[in-house]
Amino acid sequence: MDRLSARFGVDYHDGEAPLGADALRERLQGKAGAYITGTERITAELLAACPDLRVVSTMSVGYNHIDLAACTARGVLVTNTPDVLTETTADFGFALLMATARRMSEGERLLRDGGWKSWSWDFLAGADIYNSTLGILGMGRIGQAIARRGRFGFGMNVVYHNRSRLPAETETELGARYVAKDELLRQADHLVLVLPYSAESHHCIAAAELALMKPTATLINIARGGIVDEDALAAALREQRIAAAGLDVFEGEPRVNPALLTLPNVVLTPHIASATMPTRLAMAGLAADNLIAALTGATPPTPLNAEVLTR
Ligand code: DGY
Repeated sequence: MDRLSARFGVDYHDGEAPLGADALRERLQGKAGAYITGTERITAELLAACPDLRVVSTMSVGYNHIDLAACTARGVLVTNTPDVLTETTADFGFALLMATARRMSEGERLLRDGGWKSWSWDFLAGADIYNSTLGILGMGRIGQAIARRGRFGFGMNVVYHNRSRLPAETETELGARYVAKDELLRQADHLVLVLPYSAESHHCIAAAELALMKPTATLINIARGGIVDEDALAAALREQRIAAAGLDVFEGEPRVNPALLTLPNVVLTPHIASATMPTRLAMAGLAADNLIAALTGATPPTPLNAEVLTR
């Protein structure tokens, strides 16, 4: 805020609740730049109603809340915050995997509720992580950082599926093997979703995909909620067709599908995978760098539609 207000007039939305579409449209009247997070939606209709807007800087790596094609068509530059959150997000993905596979939330709830009576041989027995098979769907920067943790930290056998296969030298460096999506679902002991959300990936984990997974498998989603059909997941968890799930993202967040809230074998966290103070400050700083550069005629560090700059 200090850096932005030293250069520009700033209209800051200082509230917990995100701006709805109407309020956002109103507040963007006459504004050249928008500094947003993943909760504001930039649609073609909004762009048409805000003709002065030239730059949208989102403090997030994901940009499914922005109609990038519409921005490009209107000459609106869009920037995001890649790289600075990769390792922090991968740490969290791994933490969620471990908490889920080892039933940590379930154990803590039981202990706090006074349900810990004695030691018994199969009490809260979960799934092994060391030496198991880690499946990764979406092998971008964060997927690769998770693969390194699995392979070199936990001796895991890493398999992945991605729209495009990684170069052979990257696969060798990561110790990761490319497989078809169905094969990934069949082989993974722990499946981590790290792919971008789009019309193509909407509900790409639904009943048919869950049916291919092992009954002992863990599913982790740190990407976007809409990738998973939550009703189908709740049914699979309830009927123990898969063992457990760890979810940091939800289709209607901050609302959580009530069917998930009642299940013991799911760990639920409120979209905090990148939430460490150093990383959030780095994201905030990069989003400010992008906005300042774009509005002062310089090249922003991380544009999403750089073609707009050459027009
Ligand atoms: C991101 O950066 O995309 C995270 O999900 C936070 O919004």
